[in-house]
Amino acid sequence: MHVRPDLRSDIGSSIVSDAASVTPIVLEAMKRGDNPRLREVLALLVTHVHAFLREARLTDDEYEYALDFVRRVGLACNDKHNEVVLLADVLGFSTLVKVLNNSLHLESTGGALLGPFYRGNSPHYELGASLDQQSTSDPVLFVSGHVKATDGTPVVGAKVDVWQASPVGLYENQDPGQPDMNLRGNFSTSASGEFHFQTVRPAGYPVPTNGPVGELLREQKRHPYRPAHLHFVVFAQGFDTLISQIFADDAEYLNSDVVFGVTRDLIGKFERHDAGSGPHPGQPQSYYTLHCEFVLAEGVATLPTPPIK
Ligand SMILES: [Fe+2]
Repeated sequence: MHVRPDLRSDIGSSIVSDAASVTPIVLEAMKRGDNPRLREVLALLVTHVHAFLREARLTDDEYEYALDFVRRVGLACNDKHNEVVLLADVLGFSTLVKVLNNSLHLESTGGALLGPFYRGNSPHYELGASLDQQSTSDPVLFVSGHVKATDGTPVVGAKVDVWQASPVGLYENQDPGQPDMNLRGNFSTSASGEFHFQTVRPAGYPVPTNGPVGELLREQKRHPYRPAHLHFVVFAQGFDTLISQIFADDAEYLNSDVVFGVTRDLIGKFERHDAGSGPHPGQPQSYYTLHCEFVLAEGVATLPTPPIK
């Protein structure tokens, strides 16, 4: 190939000479942004993805397929469903970020991934209220807990936001049979940092598989199920917001959560009581209790961006 003599010295230019020259040229082009943290993260992203591309040696067809897959993940999102979060979850990205960040605060309760079903503006309830708007005959679950600082001081007025799947494994936004905001709500902790509420026992559920993430799971011969759990966001001024989940200790799929969310310290004891016994003897049917202790690290309180409306 004929090369123009004036282009032979490519130092400082973005003219590519071979595969090895691509990465430094791209890194050089990305140096001028004003945000140093964004510059750092994007430089790492490009460095590692370029290294992956060198190792994987994708064909043109494979590369086009990958780009189209990402396009379809975006198109599968709407106000009630977030396929991007789902993809990050089933690839273990979300759990890895959480576990890495948990390691910075070993004295506080560990976080777990937010998941694709968190909605902002859940209804506020008085302590003791029920999240179940349908008064179903499903097994009742009484949840109690404390929110504390790392020195054991109660955190008063912390906002404990809860959401969960129904006893058939569907969040209300997935299920036309449930009222809006069913099995979602938030509570304020008492003067002793305590909270308690009533709900129904959640079931494990399959993550949505009718989009590209479902194709991926089927290709990988993976089941789509999550073990039964409750989601929590615990928010209080002066503390890092805790985004976490509590898993039922007797749940199916506890050892094979499709989004890798289960950590040992987040397995809660779902204690079964016969009707007429236990702390709520007035219950006409057998029921469950769960107690949670949430320890917050000092920090800056922020709220996560809801993946759906
Ligand atoms: Fe969930």
